[in-house]
Amino acid sequence: MATTPFPSAITATGLSKSFGDHVVLDGIDLDVPRATVFALLGPNGSGKTTTVRILSTLIRADGGQATVAGHDLDREAAAVRGAIGVTGQFSAVDGLLTGEENLQLMADLQHLGRAEGRRRTADLLERFDLLDAAKKTAATYSGGMRRRLDLAMTLVGDPSVIFLDEPTTGLDPRSRRTMWQIIRRLVAGGVTVFLTTQYLEEADALADRIAVIDHGKVVATGTADELKRQIPGGHIRVRFADAAGLDAAARVFDGSSRDDEALTLRVPGDGGVRSMRALLDRLDAVEAEVADLSVHTPDLDDVFFALTGTPTGTPTGSPTGTPAGNPKANPTGARAGADTTEPTTEKETAR
Ligand SMILES: Nc1ncnc2c1ncn2[C@@H]1O[C@H](COP(=O)(O)OP(=O)(O)O)[C@@H](O)[C@H]1O
Ligand SMILES: [Mg+2]
Repeated sequence: MATTPFPSAITATGLSKSFGDHVVLDGIDLDVPRATVFALLGPNGSGKTTTVRILSTLIRADGGQATVAGHDLDREAAAVRGAIGVTGQFSAVDGLLTGEENLQLMADLQHLGRAEGRRRTADLLERFDLLDAAKKTAATYSGGMRRRLDLAMTLVGDPSVIFLDEPTTGLDPRSRRTMWQIIRRLVAGGVTVFLTTQYLEEADALADRIAVIDHGKVVATGTADELKRQIPGGHIRVRFADAAGLDAAARVFDGSSRDDEALTLRVPGDGGVRSMRALLDRLDAVEAEVADLSVHTPDLDDVFFALTGTPTGTPTGSPTGTPAGNPKANPTGARAGADTTEPTTEKETAR
């Protein structure tokens, strides 16, 4: 560790920010170790982008302190900017330029010099699987290619800390997985990644540590497993053949929650043999016809729901709220919205 110049890539204490009388951040504390992935997880409008914009020096906090890459955010903003890369929720890619030209432009802006700029451009095109598309204008790229180019552009300056604001929102599952691989490789190479996401699945798959924010406060932090342990056991999801079965069962299971449309009942329980037998006996007793039944161990979705009372992807009054989307990312199907695919209309100019 002798060569480690600073232990944490990002620290923040008591960060606050209001817009008018709207308190967006109400005292946020963060600590992100170097070369790790940190996920800031929260529903729409919870202040994720605001946090990124503060930490990347694009806007100033009203209160609190923070360091990024060992530099004080207020006193050493230029040094912070020199150490970071930011990829906003919306692409900074110029559609009229080719992929290669976009990267070269970034290299020029960073004053890398001709030879070094070419070298980095070629290297990034290869690493991001964009060699074949290098000479095509970015306007012709797919969503996934655009995101990769955008991230590649962020990396031209060789940042040690990168901020990725909803890096996979709107991407199809395959492009999302490609992006995850790229992020993992970056971290293996020593980069610290601060990402925001509405996807529990994404935080679960990528993040070493997660902070859940809601209403301007961090409501939980920890690894995905630690967060999952914070909420009581799982549940059994029972789907009935008809509404009469659902009605009958709902009356006998205290603490259960029903979904009339899906004809399902969610019964708290650990899914152990004994409790399953008891459950089936009671279902038999009320003569409810069960279509199928699945045991659900707690996942981040449950944590999120328990902490924020908001299913992921549900708009929470933000003008940029996205409609809840494709529920298939949520294997339980119990709550839709873990896979919102609509891009929001907010414009991000984070670069
Ligand atoms: N420049 C601004 N002026 C006024 N309100 C803003 C501004 N930026 C963000 N907000 C509000 O702050 C809240 C948090 O926004 P944001 O940080 O973009 O949330 P998230 O990225 O989690 O969706 C939202 O209610 C949003 O409308
Ligand atoms: Mg945002």
